[in-house]
Amino acid sequence: MSLSIKIRSLVRPGALLSNFGLPNSAIQGAWSQSRHFSAVRMSPRKKFWLVALIGVTGGAAAGGTYTFYQMKQARIPIMNAGTGTVGTILLDKPDIAPSRRIVSKTDKYDLQLVLFQYQTCPFCCKVRAFLDYHGFSYDVIEVNPVMRQQMRWSTYKKVPILLAKVDGGYQQMNDSSVIISALTSYMHNPSEGLTAALKYYPSIEFKDDEGNVKSEVMNRHFLMFGESMPKGKTKESIK
Ligand SMILES: *[C@@H]1O[C@H](CO)[C@@H](O)[C@H](O)[C@H]1NC(C)=O
Repeated sequence: MSLSIKIRSLVRPGALLSNFGLPNSAIQGAWSQSRHFSAVRMSPRKKFWLVALIGVTGGAAAGGTYTFYQMKQARIPIMNAGTGTVGTILLDKPDIAPSRRIVSKTDKYDLQLVLFQYQTCPFCCKVRAFLDYHGFSYDVIEVNPVMRQQMRWSTYKKVPILLAKVDGGYQQMNDSSVIISALTSYMHNPSEGLTAALKYYPSIEFKDDEGNVKSEVMNRHFLMFGESMPKGKTKESIK
């Protein structure tokens, strides 16, 4: 309906044809012809189905193309430049009061650690066992498992997270294996500092099968001892 109205207004005699100096009768003729043309247009029913068909086909084609494009995009692997990114340093510790403070009189490292955890989570138990065994002092922040408001400051949302005071702020360590590997590497060579140890645990971003961006610390089960291998150990034995 609206299409034929538009066409008609385009060839409206006064607006267009008179500019070519055509006699009025010819214009009238053309006008009546266009009227005649519009008189044989399709029945509304047929037209409805035609429009519906165009709509459905067009929609399916557009949708299909879009889905195909999305799938293609999802399959493009992404790579970090170089070997990956090393965690950024938080300028301030999140302003959350610790639930308790574990003080070890034999703490040799003075790292000022803050552990975000659920007391019963196995990965948190693993980190606590490690910290206790090696005599670290640390603050514990129990995360409310329902509201998890203690985790709002972090884009990484899983426990355990360990914060450690370093030059210029706090270093955030995610994942129990990363925490343990990085701290063990640090303990092997404390004079280099924790930040130096963490440089060996860059996170690599990649896309999973659904195209969601995930990040992973590939070598989180490995200890990084640099040039100085501990006595009596081989590369294979310290994995
Ligand atoms: C831990 O996760 C946060 C948020 O995704 C990120 O900014 C930080 O760099 C990560 N830390 C490490 C050591 O990869």
